[in-house]
Amino acid sequence: MAIRGVHIKINDLNHRYTSKSPITFHRVNIDSPQGESLVIIGRSGCGKSTLLHVLAGLMRPTGGTVSLNGELVKAPSPRWVMMFQAPHLFPWMTVEHNVGIGLHFAHWPKKEIKERVTEVLGLVHLEDYADSNVQDLSGGQQQRVALARSLVMEPELLLLDEPFSALDTFTRTSLQKDVRSIAKRLGINLVMATHDIDEAVLMADRTLVMAGAPGKIVHELAVDLDDPRERQDPAVQAMRANLMQIFHDATHSQTDGSGSKIDDVLSETEVVSINQHV
Ligand SMILES: Nc1ncnc2c1ncn2[C@@H]1O[C@H](COP(=O)(O)OP(=O)(O)OP(=O)(O)O)[C@@H](O)[C@H]1O
Ligand SMILES: [Mg+2]
Repeated sequence: MAIRGVHIKINDLNHRYTSKSPITFHRVNIDSPQGESLVIIGRSGCGKSTLLHVLAGLMRPTGGTVSLNGELVKAPSPRWVMMFQAPHLFPWMTVEHNVGIGLHFAHWPKKEIKERVTEVLGLVHLEDYADSNVQDLSGGQQQRVALARSLVMEPELLLLDEPFSALDTFTRTSLQKDVRSIAKRLGINLVMATHDIDEAVLMADRTLVMAGAPGKIVHELAVDLDDPRERQDPAVQAMRANLMQIFHDATHSQTDGSGSKIDDVLSETEVVSINQHV
């Protein structure tokens, strides 16, 4: 498979659902190079899912732009695909048919669909389950089918909205490792939203902390650790502690009402402009 991936450029993105609702996020600027794994962490309600929906072209933002290799994202595409918390599979179909459905709709010949699906099932370690009904699979295996269904279309960007949060720790850890290693092997960009600091440290090249109301990127941290990453590795644990402190400082300052720490992470003009909007 060819190396792919995109340069993601998000310019001054802001969103509010209706003119009466509060601003969801404000002045989000992200520049992510080809092949980067970017993890956005933030508390519930700060706007992570909304941001991912905009990135996937599933929702138009109120203002600002998203471009991939200079091309504006305006609609969904198999080139930028989203994985959700629930796998959303077709329960009456086999694994093979679920994974090949996009190719079927794209009118690929049957033989080529089978070859491509077999290749992708190998990537996600489900080669022995091609003929199984998806209902007979565990939650983790179903999420692997959803991953394979995304990968079969050869996306450049995989958007992940807490896709492992419903899984047990063991299953989650193995999927985290596999998704990162597949993305690195194929050169795909990842943008993932999570509450989970461990997940960010295990999967990210770079982490962005989103906080506040309206939500904003308030901090970023390069996660320059070697692969494969093991939870018990001292370097991984040190990075985790560092990110935990950053996350605590960034989000604590938003909730304790003191306002002291927000000044450390936002420039004065930005704080003023947020206050004007709320
Ligand atoms: N369809 C909608 N209409 C109006 N407001 C919405 C809609 N969807 C989300 N919101 C609001 O936008 C804000 C951000 O929601 P979003 O789902 O993006 O947060 P999140 O960071 O993904 O949270 P979580 O971690 O719980 O998934 C919340 O205040 C939410 O109530
Ligand atoms: Mg969400």
